Amino acid sequence: MSMLAALAILLASDSIPAIVPRPAHVTPQPGAFTLRAGTVIVTDRALRKVGELLRDYLFPATGLRLGVATAAPAGTPAISIRLDSTLARLGDEGYRLDVSRSRVAIRAYRAAGAFYGIETLRQLLPPAIFRQAEMAGVAWSVPGIAIEDLPRFAWRGVHLDVARHFMPKEFVKKLIDLAALHKLNRFHWHLTDDQGWRLEIKQYPRLTQVGAWRPQTIIGRPDRDSTKWRFDGQPHGGFYTQDDVREIVAYARARFVTIVPEIEMPGHSQAAIAAYPELGNRGDTLPVWMGWGVDENILNPGDATVRFYQNVLTEVMALFPGRWIHIGGDEAPKTQWKASPLAQTRIRELGLKDEDELQSWFTHRMDEFLTAHGRTLVGWDEILQGGLAPNAVVMSWRGVDGGIAAAQAGHDVVMAPGSHTYFDHYQSADTVAEPLAIGGYLPLDTVYAFEPVPPALTASEARHVLGAQGQLWTEYVPDAKRAEYMVFPRVCALAEVLWTPPEERDYGDFTRRLVTHLQRLAVLDVNYRPLAN
Ligand code: ACM
Repeated sequence: MSMLAALAILLASDSIPAIVPRPAHVTPQPGAFTLRAGTVIVTDRALRKVGELLRDYLFPATGLRLGVATAAPAGTPAISIRLDSTLARLGDEGYRLDVSRSRVAIRAYRAAGAFYGIETLRQLLPPAIFRQAEMAGVAWSVPGIAIEDLPRFAWRGVHLDVARHFMPKEFVKKLIDLAALHKLNRFHWHLTDDQGWRLEIKQYPRLTQVGAWRPQTIIGRPDRDSTKWRFDGQPHGGFYTQDDVREIVAYARARFVTIVPEIEMPGHSQAAIAAYPELGNRGDTLPVWMGWGVDENILNPGDATVRFYQNVLTEVMALFPGRWIHIGGDEAPKTQWKASPLAQTRIRELGLKDEDELQSWFTHRMDEFLTAHGRTLVGWDEILQGGLAPNAVVMSWRGVDGGIAAAQAGHDVVMAPGSHTYFDHYQSADTVAEPLAIGGYLPLDTVYAFEPVPPALTASEARHVLGAQGQLWTEYVPDAKRAEYMVFPRVCALAEVLWTPPEERDYGDFTRRLVTHLQRLAVLDVNYRPLAN
């Protein structure tokens, strides 16, 4: 090694490149690789799509349309992307990335790992690589480096509520692409709620004909006295056709993101009841809800309603190939069930103790149904009340206690506590300078300090903690730009919590890398919140 190369390593080694999330192991190497017109992307046949995705990512800014081939003549400058059975220790999502003057080599045990290798490679190039127009005069160089990397958690998610405010298909795709850039691999799509049903269901067309639209929306936070509520007079709505969903699922799949669709039941269901009043408890005709909060209009627990929702889930399963289907289960007030002859008869006939056990009975029916179809039910932690369904995964949002209880009972858990992962909370103590939010306070450093495995769990219980995810509820998020403001950069911090080994996590180092990373997000037209305070 030359003196100069040794010096370069010495200078580089005190600050690793600005990769977010920080890789597990990074060793600077001498030299740099520069993309040129003759550079070829060489892949195994099985990785051709990953190679083509890299080509498509690199083309707009560089103007270089790199060839994708299964082999290249010796001496050709190449980015090789190969499966390597000797790298099983890095798991399905790990990879090695070696950059020298003459080549870039990405090796992984599985395709997902190779994909994360290309996401890291994009971040080793100048931030302008994310431009959508050709940039003259940029040297597209990658510093010499050896990276060996793998995630800490299997479930690294972001959630988006499209019920309170509909978000266009193009934004959903943008968020999925950004999630993948941060090596997140789950997109939890909250598709139904009191204020809107957003998924076309062929068997029940009124769910979107009626349930996807509301005449107006409450202005500001709801007063305790609903007679004081004021409304904006603006109709709001929208839904995704099944073709839209197929497009989004394919887009996510190409980026190794599994979509977890959520169909809420039995609470947060007023839009469905507005479309089909027979789903409710009182037979009255309700509007799609125009306010925010917890709504007493929940589904009735009759056999026809169970069948209706199983039919909905049949269409959901046909659209979404992933293993997990979320059935909500949170915030289902029991006032109407207490007053309902049907619900009370059902409780008596089934020998149940109370309305919580009746909700548990309802959830069990969905668990059986999904399990029989090879899928896994996910629910918010209220599904613990009245007895957890045997195959359910618990998403712990009211703190981590629900997650602890479920993991101790041998169930898989996804951590989503409001205290650390609710991106609808304020990100500054100075709320006056911020757009109106639901409340709370979740600054960037608190997200970064999140530890998804509670110390109360033993090592074997802790294995049930699949990971965590960030939530964006959209009562106070009217559009995509505001959504970006609330999600970024907090999701960058969460991505590092979920990917990087805890001993490599350092908030000062993260914020240093984040300065460069925010340049990428700016180029990607992400309306992130600046770091000022
Ligand atoms: C929730 O925030 N109601 C899950």
